[in-house]
Amino acid sequence: MEKIILLLKEILSNQTLVKAVFSGLRNKSVPYQKAVIRPILLNGSYYCQIEYHYKNKVTHENLSPEKCLEVSKNLIQDSFKQVNLFSSEGDYQILAAKPHLPRILKKPPSKGLPSLDHNQAKQYLIPDDIPCDFLIRLGVMDQEGHVIQKHYSKFRQINRFLDIVSDVLAYLPDPAKDAKAIRIVDFGCGKAYLTFALYYYLKIMLNKNVEIIGLDLKEDVIEFCNIVAADLNYQELKFLKGDIADYTGNDPADMVVTLHACDTATDFALMKAVKWNASIILSVPCCQHELFHQLENNFHLPIMKHGILKERFSSILTDGLRSLKLEEVGYDVALVEFTSLEHTSKNIMIRAVKTGKEKKSSGEEFRQLSEYWNVNPTISQLNK
Ligand SMILES: C[S@@+](CC[C@H](N)C(=O)[O-])C[C@H]1O[C@@H](n2cnc3c(N)ncnc32)[C@H](O)[C@@H]1O
Repeated sequence: MEKIILLLKEILSNQTLVKAVFSGLRNKSVPYQKAVIRPILLNGSYYCQIEYHYKNKVTHENLSPEKCLEVSKNLIQDSFKQVNLFSSEGDYQILAAKPHLPRILKKPPSKGLPSLDHNQAKQYLIPDDIPCDFLIRLGVMDQEGHVIQKHYSKFRQINRFLDIVSDVLAYLPDPAKDAKAIRIVDFGCGKAYLTFALYYYLKIMLNKNVEIIGLDLKEDVIEFCNIVAADLNYQELKFLKGDIADYTGNDPADMVVTLHACDTATDFALMKAVKWNASIILSVPCCQHELFHQLENNFHLPIMKHGILKERFSSILTDGLRSLKLEEVGYDVALVEFTSLEHTSKNIMIRAVKTGKEKKSSGEEFRQLSEYWNVNPTISQLNK
């Protein structure tokens, strides 16, 4: 074992690691089938990303080189009999059926050092080329884990969504402290690619205690999603048929998601979230028609006489007013780009996290803007 540790230590401290693949299970109780370690840069620091390959999922952990050494040692001792180690100095095959008596075979390097800078290929939270059960079931991936070409934009959208979720995770309640599951509602979930992705990320990859509900008007869609959730054994993911405006739910949600729910459906979702005191709101509004018919301001008529400009401006005004209302009641709000491709006019996400700092000035700005444009949006009912 000593010899293996010395070799790993040298490779990690010199940062010459390209990839390490652990295989050959020691016994059937090992839950994963393979583990792969690659170097990555996180905020400019050298880390090792370890992927655990289970039958139908892959989980990741980012480790410091020191921690990586410790984890590697345990993997060899407890889980795997073989390691194929690629470094820029050489390729090593480590045969460690008896960890205290390993055979280490060295060959010239077959791989160069990977580029760790920002130009390297995008690392997705759910990677391409590794089977992922819900993506296979929803037809985005084939059985081997390859993303089907025509679904690549959906695959990118899912990963972009999870990136945004990972940025705000710290705002979720800590179940270790209050022992209750984190409750999440996805309003207007549709076929629920993103709802399944959220469950997969939080429950399966991060092992968080979550309960997720997807709500939609369409009965057939809800039936389909419940069948898929049952097939995948996603026990804490349920789908309900209903209208956002009428949804009462039993318990308040900690996180509310509403992606592309049309027109004022978004407002009803935001109002529920605020009433529940949700810690996180992720909302991608679309079809913001409401203000198009109300908007009136003679000064801007030379521009607004063009329907297309009026339509685009109505969307901006609607979402700007929604953001002000959320700030007024204690949310920190950022408008971020969701996806950059096809739906360019439906790609802005309202990302709001509860800080509790109510901004009265935002309430005043809301009032002045509504007056200026002569509008009375649904979201004005938020804190009435
Ligand atoms: C464009 S799809 C978006 C699906 C999914 N959220 C996504 O982004 O991939 C909009 C969904 O919202 C649902 N929806 C619209 N208004 C709703 C309402 N008032 N209550 C519940 N669902 C609604 C529609 O039935 C539809 O399935």
